[in-house]
Amino acid sequence: MAPKQLVEFSLNGRWQSLAVPPEESLLETLRNRCRILSTKDGCQPQGQCGCCLALIDGLPKVSCAVPTHRVQDKEVLTLEGLPEEERRLIGRCFVAAAGLQCGYCIPGFALQAKNLLDRNPNPSRDEIARAINGHLCRCTGYVKIIDAVELLAAARRGEGEPELDWTGGVGSSLARYQGTAMTLGDRPFVDDLQRPDMLHGAVVLSPHARARVERIDTSAAQALPGVVAVATAKEVPGDRWVGLLYDDWPVFVAEGEEVRCVGDVLAAVAAEDEATARRAARLVKVDYEVLEPVLEPVWALERDAPQVNPRHENLLSETVVERGDVEAALAASAHTVSGTWRTQRIEHLYLEPESALAEPLADGRLKLYSQGQGIFDDRRQVASVLGVAPQQLHVELVPNGGAFGGKEDMSIQAQTALLARMTGRPVKIALNREESIRLHPKRHPITMRYKVGCDAEGRLTAVEADMIGDTGAYASVGSKVLERAAGHGCGPYRVPNVSVVARAVMTNNPPCGAMRGFGANQAHFAMEGALDLLAAEVGLDGWEMRWRNALEVGDATTTGQILEKSVGLKQCLLEVKEAYFEAMNSGRAVGIGCGIKNSGIGNGAQEWGRARLVVEEDGTVSLFNGYTEMGQGLLTVLVQIATEVTGLPPSTFNPQVDSTFELDCGQTTGSRATLFGGLAVEKAAKGLASDLSEVRSLRELVGNIYKGEVLIDDTTAPGAGSDRIKTHTAYGFAAQVCILDAEGRVERVVAAHDVGKAINPALCEGQVEGSVHMGLGYALTEELPCPNGMPATFKLRELGVLRARDMPQVDVLLVEEHEPEGPFGAKGVGEIGLVPTAGAVAGALATFDGIRRYRLPMKDSPAARAMSVGKIRGNPS
Ligand code: FES
Ligand code: FES
Repeated sequence: MAPKQLVEFSLNGRWQSLAVPPEESLLETLRNRCRILSTKDGCQPQGQCGCCLALIDGLPKVSCAVPTHRVQDKEVLTLEGLPEEERRLIGRCFVAAAGLQCGYCIPGFALQAKNLLDRNPNPSRDEIARAINGHLCRCTGYVKIIDAVELLAAARRGEGEPELDWTGGVGSSLARYQGTAMTLGDRPFVDDLQRPDMLHGAVVLSPHARARVERIDTSAAQALPGVVAVATAKEVPGDRWVGLLYDDWPVFVAEGEEVRCVGDVLAAVAAEDEATARRAARLVKVDYEVLEPVLEPVWALERDAPQVNPRHENLLSETVVERGDVEAALAASAHTVSGTWRTQRIEHLYLEPESALAEPLADGRLKLYSQGQGIFDDRRQVASVLGVAPQQLHVELVPNGGAFGGKEDMSIQAQTALLARMTGRPVKIALNREESIRLHPKRHPITMRYKVGCDAEGRLTAVEADMIGDTGAYASVGSKVLERAAGHGCGPYRVPNVSVVARAVMTNNPPCGAMRGFGANQAHFAMEGALDLLAAEVGLDGWEMRWRNALEVGDATTTGQILEKSVGLKQCLLEVKEAYFEAMNSGRAVGIGCGIKNSGIGNGAQEWGRARLVVEEDGTVSLFNGYTEMGQGLLTVLVQIATEVTGLPPSTFNPQVDSTFELDCGQTTGSRATLFGGLAVEKAAKGLASDLSEVRSLRELVGNIYKGEVLIDDTTAPGAGSDRIKTHTAYGFAAQVCILDAEGRVERVVAAHDVGKAINPALCEGQVEGSVHMGLGYALTEELPCPNGMPATFKLRELGVLRARDMPQVDVLLVEEHEPEGPFGAKGVGEIGLVPTAGAVAGALATFDGIRRYRLPMKDSPAARAMSVGKIRGNPS
């Protein structure tokens, strides 16, 4: 190891003299030695996300790409170093614009905004987009970030500060809970937490997609000074196998077993510092017998294919939806079309990589700080690995920096907890970007063969579909994703005859699991394509074709559920009609797509909403719920519901997600947290409101606990043979129009969404804008090929996520079709925003150049070529 160097520089006006290793980055120095938290690690050392921005001698630099010794004698400025008044104003403008969601990327944007406005006090939106183009945000779609910078510019010019909405009831755009602290980077994420005497961990991952583990030798790692413990399968006291639906995923692969994907963990190391832990991890020697991986689902289904996972056949699941007589209906149809549509594997790319912190408590329990999407599932699984009762673990959610489904499965919570148990000291593990991409499940690539018929007027007669999805090495929730694809196989259209088969197949590719849209995106891409083909046959435009087939109250969904309420699809179509025909009549290429997306897991599952309101001595009310805040604004929405019911100001409520109470609601998934969490909070708040009406002040109720629980157990499983099919509690609906410019670039997206009731309109809009951003990337540029089972790239620039300058104008139109089973009429909006997008883009492109595209991403298109994202080197596909 090279000796440390003395580096002297000014940090936020204070002189620093630090001895640092020559390879240490400024980001590491700022975070680990100077306790600066506004600089976040999104991709170190790539320098491609902007989360770690600092000003060095007044110039914006990504601090992960700057060795600390380079700042000798320079001035380094972070958000912490700005005058309090400037910090306050930045926070206010971002919150007023709803310019943040998970908040992980926002401090970088905020500092970049300050830098821009110092040089250009009155920038145009295009100039702002250019200035922030080096930053990635996976949540917002950049629209409201640019709004925030405009507000900040106006305020700095003396044109007045934006008002914040603190009224807080349902229907108001209440300022986001902890929004200012998140904007400034002051609200900690897991990786920002520190504990006295804390150890740092690192994991050893398999370099092979399939291999037999012959021997794991940890002796060299153990001998490295600074290493405190090394864990392998041998050290696990309980059950190594975990999983959300099946216990088929070992937290460590043992000697004698096969590794099944390149995210498998062989060992974990705890050491006095992160660099030592990582060095030790590299010293763990694993001998493998490399085996040929099973990479193609079609091969995986052949009789001679090796079994990928010892706990399943390679065919993980098969979902069948049958209604009517498809064969006869297709034969009698005036028009039929058929085709094979293919979607790709993509990476969630939440900006916050996974991290966990486990800390032994004085009472013998272990406290786990998790950023997972279901802390009670985390607790159940970690307890099982440790061989202890779940009550021996206290799990607290630290609201995460984005998840989108990718943090439903555990990542390194169990390994972190085990190391803390072994050492008796707090342990934190933070994955780097490559490890994150290798370890967590992805969006399913699905191949879909469709045959669809309609009558002479364009009314759909039948859909026949066969879907095969690559679910990778572990089950995760793959069977449910394909079940959801089948259940959304006809899109939001009335189809009297249906035959859909959807299979989830295991391979040695990275696991695929939950990701925003969860099977619906894939099915809609195919179905919308088929609808466009039929419209051309009949001689209808895309809007009219959809209008004639749009689901209404009284119609049956794909699964046969008769819709009895809250179907806002036709209203959405009316909202986009003018934009569609205006574009068409002015000669623009225009495409249209519609969407349906369940709120709630449904399909026969029991689902819960659970909440507790606890009146505290300091005059606040702790609001405990079981669902996860992951940037969508759930905690803000729950506060609004409590405010609306009780009449107390929103600042009274302090939302928390931990295992103080047994509020196990399962994962935040299926666009259900607002629906079921909201119902539970509404119920608990009614109890508090009732007591409040009897007393003079809240203080008289100190110590009272108000309980809210709702059980949803009236949905039906596929093929259950019930008389009354109710696949899901509620559905969101959408219609989106995509308009291209004269060069074939996406110029504008008009997105009308039926959200039941917009509890917080600004947050609703933000969800749709962020989803459209993700949907455009999915349609045009995003992919993660895995040759030999290993992701072809770990570089953020090459994953195809759109930058600010790539975003078109997005017009969000909220439709409120009251949902009687939701709180105040609301239903989920977290996922549906990207369900119609790829179909609408494909339609617009087909109008533009006459090419009907059947494969995502449509990177051969002029719209994709115009994007500023990078390409994966050496990937010709
Ligand atoms: S962490 Fe530095 S640019 Fe991403
Ligand atoms: S708010 Fe930008 S990544 Fe979440």
